[in-house]
Amino acid sequence: MVLNQLEELTSRAFDELGKVTNLEELEAWRIRYLGRKSSLIQILRLLATLPLEDRRVAGARANEVKKTFEARLAEKKTSLELAATLSLQRESLDVTLPGERVLLGRLHPTTQILDEICHIFQDMGFQVVEGPEVEWEYYNFEALNMPADHPARDMFATLWIDFETEAGDRPMLLRTHTSPVQIRVMEKSPPPIRIIAPGRVYRYEATDATHEWMFYQVEGLAVDRNITLADLKGTLFEFARRLFGKERKCRFRCDYFPFVEPGVEVAIDCFVCGGAGCRLCGNSGWIEIIGAGMVHPEVLRRVDIDPEVYSGFAFGMGVERIPILRYGIDDIRLFYSNDVRFLRQF
Ligand code: PHE
Repeated sequence: MVLNQLEELTSRAFDELGKVTNLEELEAWRIRYLGRKSSLIQILRLLATLPLEDRRVAGARANEVKKTFEARLAEKKTSLELAATLSLQRESLDVTLPGERVLLGRLHPTTQILDEICHIFQDMGFQVVEGPEVEWEYYNFEALNMPADHPARDMFATLWIDFETEAGDRPMLLRTHTSPVQIRVMEKSPPPIRIIAPGRVYRYEATDATHEWMFYQVEGLAVDRNITLADLKGTLFEFARRLFGKERKCRFRCDYFPFVEPGVEVAIDCFVCGGAGCRLCGNSGWIEIIGAGMVHPEVLRRVDIDPEVYSGFAFGMGVERIPILRYGIDDIRLFYSNDVRFLRQF
């Protein structure tokens, strides 16, 4: 009878001990199974009333049970304490460890120079506008006085967009220069116009140290009454002085672009060698970064601006050339290959 009770008690106690997960629960368990009011202690007290033979057997067993309980209690206590210290260690913070380095982002060298260029022209009263990089053939060529069979299209190795457009016969391309923005602006707004248009342009080109298939240009356009080549020269000369320094000189020479007449190529005396000739300017002392000219009357007529009343100048410049010369970068491909070791230097 007593032996049965002991067996039952033991299995219940072990069962519950298995579910104990912290020291508080363990203490409750101890009170329940080894405390003064516990069944086990009561059984031990009861033994005195049993006949001698039963008392010996049951007493021995009860004492065994008590010893096991105590042993299991100690065991469980040790393991719970160990777990508690481990989790404390895991959660603790070593304030003497060095902090994690926060890496600061920075502006791309192209973005930096674009900001500079835009600010200079904004100060002169030009507004910054943008146009699409995926462009109709019409804006990139046709409206700029380059019909389908025009040989000048060869100057622009073109990436064509190969899909059936809704219009069917209206081919699209990746713009090869920012000049289409001129047309988009003149179509929408009557003179006076003073805008610059920064952005990406694309050429179907094998890349090497001096060629990329994508690069940036900044387009400029001014249309008003009485705009002359002198305005173009004054504006670009002032721009060169503000970007490259007061002592800069400009050289204007004849050049050809179908959408301007006359067309000019603008060079700045090399700001690296001051015009004496060095590796960067190819020993010529001059750096050519701008194509420009007076907007062709045919281009004006197409956007319904009367060339008898209005005239305008336009220019387009390559952007990467400037940081390339300024910092002596020897490979244009470094700009857009996203190597932070390169980009971090600017
Ligand atoms: N769009 C020309 C180019 O990419 C540059 C240019 C712009 C020339 C405006 C004249 C006027 O080469």
